[in-house]
Amino acid sequence: MFVKTETETTRHADHLHELEARNLNVYYGKTLAVRDFNLSFRPNSITAMIGPSGSGKSTVLRSLNRMHEVVKDAYITGEVLLNGQNIYNSEADPVRVRRRIGMVFQKPNPFPMMSIFDNVIAGFKLNYGKPKGISYEEIVEQSLRAVALWDEVKDKLKDSGAALSGGQQQRLCIARTIAVQPDVILMDEPCSALDPISTLKIEELMRELRRRYTIVLVTHNMQQAIRVSDITAVLMPTDRVGELVEVAPTDEIFNDPKDNRTADYVSGRIG
Ligand SMILES: Nc1ncnc2c1ncn2[C@@H]1O[C@H](COP(=O)(O)OP(=O)(O)OP(=O)(O)O)[C@@H](O)[C@H]1O
Ligand SMILES: [Mg+2]
Repeated sequence: MFVKTETETTRHADHLHELEARNLNVYYGKTLAVRDFNLSFRPNSITAMIGPSGSGKSTVLRSLNRMHEVVKDAYITGEVLLNGQNIYNSEADPVRVRRRIGMVFQKPNPFPMMSIFDNVIAGFKLNYGKPKGISYEEIVEQSLRAVALWDEVKDKLKDSGAALSGGQQQRLCIARTIAVQPDVILMDEPCSALDPISTLKIEELMRELRRRYTIVLVTHNMQQAIRVSDITAVLMPTDRVGELVEVAPTDEIFNDPKDNRTADYVSGRIG
């Protein structure tokens, strides 16, 4: 979006920000939570992950940018490839991985002691320090414009981020995520704490962001999956271990599912 090095510009131009999980098994200590998850997340698309509570959606999502390993004794086996490189390689730096694969959480979590301005730029400063050829002000404006929040906050950038409405806070958190120029954005039920109007705004934003990013969206809201996603992946627990049971274009999952468990779930018979 801004201050791109040549290679990064090329990378985006080639649409190579591709994410793939291969033979992923996810553990909490001795407990296996997700078994043999294989999925290639298509670039410039929104992949929704749906499934009953406890089916491992958040667990998978957190393994996709190494947030999972922050939990004590938690680990994975298998691979997660970003542009063909395993993010779990011994040389891979988890901080850099999380910069390239950003995450937005269920509850908007702006830094409460920071201004709106500082919230947007916080991750950028931490990762890059002082930018060349562009000011912090420009980065903040571009990021806030990208999430359609600029007009609402441009006159109060020094106010606390916590003083915004829930929907505005969530857009602020998305601005903070995209300010560090990720390739992939992971979202875990980003609208579940929001009212319907704010939800529609975030959905509109997701569709806009899809042009530049690979997006993975965990949602309980099937209408939301239908409205915004291109591909839907369905997870189900078998003996309390989550598994991917079906993945297909979203309209196929909802209109012509191949797996009986998917059919039951999307028609509201389970979950
Ligand atoms: N920090 C943790 N420590 C141990 N087990 C965990 C932890 N977080 C999740 N689990 C377990 O992993 C399994 C999958 O949980 P996860 O939170 O990924 O499900 P989910 O599909 O996101 O559910 P929900 O729809 O309720 O958010 C569950 O059995 C859960 O108890
Ligand atoms: Mg969850």
